Amino acid sequence: MTEDRIRCPSCRDKIMTSDEAAKLIKGGMNVATSGFALAGNPKEVLPAFIRKREANWERMRINLWTGASTGYEVDGLLGEHDAVKKRFPYQSTKEMRNCINRGITWYNDMHLSLSSQSVRYGWWGDLDVAIVEAAAITEKGELVLTTGVGNTPTFVLMADKVIVEVNHTFPRELEGIHDLYSVDDPPDRDPILITRPGEKIGSPYLAVPEEKIAAVVTSDTKEKGPVFQEAKPVHEKMAHHLIGFLTDEVDAGRLPAHLLPLQSGVGNVANAVLSGLANSDFSDLHVYSEVLQDSILTLLESGKLKGASGCAVNLSDSSMERFYENLDWYKEKIVLRPLEISNHPEIIRRLGVIAMNTAIEADIYGNVNSTHLMGSNIMNGIGGSGDFARNAYLSFFFTESTAKKGDISSIVPYVSHTDHTEHDVDVIITEQGAADLRGLSPRERAIEVIEQCAHPDYKEALWDYHNRAVNETGGQTPHLLEESFSWHTRFINKGTMKQG
Ligand code: COA
Repeated sequence: MTEDRIRCPSCRDKIMTSDEAAKLIKGGMNVATSGFALAGNPKEVLPAFIRKREANWERMRINLWTGASTGYEVDGLLGEHDAVKKRFPYQSTKEMRNCINRGITWYNDMHLSLSSQSVRYGWWGDLDVAIVEAAAITEKGELVLTTGVGNTPTFVLMADKVIVEVNHTFPRELEGIHDLYSVDDPPDRDPILITRPGEKIGSPYLAVPEEKIAAVVTSDTKEKGPVFQEAKPVHEKMAHHLIGFLTDEVDAGRLPAHLLPLQSGVGNVANAVLSGLANSDFSDLHVYSEVLQDSILTLLESGKLKGASGCAVNLSDSSMERFYENLDWYKEKIVLRPLEISNHPEIIRRLGVIAMNTAIEADIYGNVNSTHLMGSNIMNGIGGSGDFARNAYLSFFFTESTAKKGDISSIVPYVSHTDHTEHDVDVIITEQGAADLRGLSPRERAIEVIEQCAHPDYKEALWDYHNRAVNETGGQTPHLLEESFSWHTRFINKGTMKQG
């Protein structure tokens, strides 16, 4: 069994237990892991690091770098034990979020496409150890990665030491699904020659210099996928508005009949809205995205989608089973790339991607908050939403018109935190309707957003705010600043609102 998976003899000489490998990690180190979303993170060595820390009553902390969010074995466990001093570049577990919002962990939430080059430029310091999950090691000592590529190629390039976790629960047939391509840094950066979403330009394997491999650990821990909510009627309404909007664009000759490559963000809303496209008349679609969630399998199986490119397959447990049962079929249609390529502005702009991301709240002038609750507390992070929204052919943001059972309006006068400015937001969709903001001035945008997107319970208050702002302050983007800052607290039923 081990010989099948660890085909390189010199790597077999480096096999050790997770407890032994964890000794390579010391307090204050910069430690990077493979993976992206709940896919492809290492599952043995960091839990062993926490065991060692607890057994010795040590309170050492590390700086943790990843592709994006990770599963319980990384962000969950390290967050639970306050073991992370600094965190780059994205997280989404309640444990890590809690550390950040308590001020225990310093978090640099950033555009994910920039994270690999930030490591290469040395902006985060030197990388001590990279822990990488692999499905196998080839005869030449190259890695077959698992379900999430993230920043792994850059971490391996920059790390002093690499620990490889060979996870036996992944099918070996994952071999061939990856397309690993690295960019050089300025002034020697060449164009990235991807002109179609499914095009492969790199290698299926990740080369690791033999001398860097400090340990090989075997793992039998199965990946635990996300749990997506069932699509709710509000999501179906949003999908209906999206399909109507895209149909009108095709009719007007502004989009080709088979659309342009689609990108869809993370979370329940994005998953449900994308699934809704399976009920549309669109066919022969392509996806050029970051995370591939359950909806991608639904669309591929419906025959509507021809192929999907991303940097991770982040599937619920039942969808993952379906994926593995028909892996050969899916492998012809899915490509997994490094994050730097899946989110690269050059490619997104060239392909003309249709970006579909989710907002926590949007304001009447078209600015979007995707990351903070009530302005101060982080939810997840900007992730790749800015990479796509800024460079897309057409940039959509979705949100339910209200949150917390209607106690909060998701359409507000002024967002409590800005991730996507009015300049990067073309269309806002709620279950109420779609606001097309293209070519509109801020005052025109306010009319469109309030009329199309706001919930009827909040429309009057938003109109009142806007009309008074126009009359009392005027200007290009009329605001009543004192009042806009108090809007968020005015409309909250304290009993149901829980932050963080
Ligand atoms: N005020 C307060 N809380 C709000 C809110 C608002 N206006 N809008 C949503 N929330 C809360 C929800 O109540 C829910 O809380 P809960 O987990 O306690 O139930 C939580 O935020 C998630 O909301 P949900 O409606 O389930 O949305 P989601 O799962 O689709 O996630 C984002 C939405 C914005 C948090 C998520 O898409 C995200 O992190 N986006 C940023 C990163 C990104 O876009 N990456 C993709 C790039 S490719």
